[in-house]
Amino acid sequence: MNVQAPAFCPTTKDDVAWLGTDPIPARAYYDPEYFELEREAVFKRTWLQIGHICELAGTGSFIRRDIEVARASVLIVRGKDEIIRAFHNVCVHRGTKLVNADAGRQASFSCPYHMWTYGTDGSLQSAPDFDNFFLEKSQCALKPVAMEVFAGLIFVHLGTPAQGVREWLGGFAEGFERLPIAQATDFVEYTYEIEANWKLTYDNFQENYHLRFVHPRTGGPGCTEENPFAYPQRYNFHGQHRSQTIWSSPTPIPQTGTQELVTQRILPPAVRAGLFNSELNMDFVGLFPNFTLFGLPIRQFTQTIMPLSARRCRGTIRFYWVGKGESASERFAREYIMASQRDIHAEDRDIVEAGQEGLASGAIESINFQVQESLCRHLFNAVDAMVREYQAEVQQAL
Ligand code: FES
Ligand SMILES: [Fe+2]
Repeated sequence: MNVQAPAFCPTTKDDVAWLGTDPIPARAYYDPEYFELEREAVFKRTWLQIGHICELAGTGSFIRRDIEVARASVLIVRGKDEIIRAFHNVCVHRGTKLVNADAGRQASFSCPYHMWTYGTDGSLQSAPDFDNFFLEKSQCALKPVAMEVFAGLIFVHLGTPAQGVREWLGGFAEGFERLPIAQATDFVEYTYEIEANWKLTYDNFQENYHLRFVHPRTGGPGCTEENPFAYPQRYNFHGQHRSQTIWSSPTPIPQTGTQELVTQRILPPAVRAGLFNSELNMDFVGLFPNFTLFGLPIRQFTQTIMPLSARRCRGTIRFYWVGKGESASERFAREYIMASQRDIHAEDRDIVEAGQEGLASGAIESINFQVQESLCRHLFNAVDAMVREYQAEVQQAL
């Protein structure tokens, strides 16, 4: 790997002053009223990352994604014509949920209630005793949802998008297309639910301030004399999105045991080479509102945090791979990387829930972010700007 490790030069207060310095209202992290505003103002009005193209390998393959925060269920299908489309997973007859399976492959979709049957393009193909209805089959297609595939990632928008995904990603778009994730053919995932607000949970992944305290064993090695908190070497912002570039110590602590074995020896050279090909390859990227991607070469993973209520959310963590694990050592390396991530994550869980409990007590009115928690402030700013815009629209309509 040819990453030049610079001396650590921390981000300063001046660098991020444009984000503001005020305390952040704590209620945005526990209040059901604020959550209802987020539901309308954010999650029904933005692109949401919900899957990967490798899940739709053949014609008729489909995935179902429930987006509880928007009260929506979405069906994404590769049609017989190879076109990928997204629909509301709702029968047009009387609204029954059409598909219950998470994923599968089939030539048509029949509603369990009265057997209206739709093709892979969403058109109504047949319906029992249809002559007794007062409309044409052509009026009964499944309701489409705006969908785009970008860099292998599937995005849906439950409203009317003002811009496409590429434009929305701005300066991050190009780097994404060169990441291995764009060519991924396989993944492993795990999901978890946690008693915590989605932003609180998300923020835990976008600041390093806690590493040396919560992860002394697993994350601690990143904390060195030059950079005691393992802070990133820089932050980048593009519109509502943000990233941090992981800092590499010029005097790294030598890796030991299994970690060294996996990262230096077992991971096949071809896999390693394929993973070091983008300027994002040392970056943590946060796409608004609830998606993160770690571009780290040997631990390239994504997380989508789906809000369930003001104080509960569900995270889906995925590790993407190009090709199947061809050898025992490669399969071992993949398992090891997944297991070590779970270990680190297990350390976070309790502390995030403890944060939620404290906030929900109402004891503090505001929370305070320092310079090295700028990504957390940036997320709140972006959410709150959409909430305020929505409130102004509602006010105007009255
Ligand atoms: S509600 Fe689906 S066929 Fe009647
Ligand atoms: Fe952590």
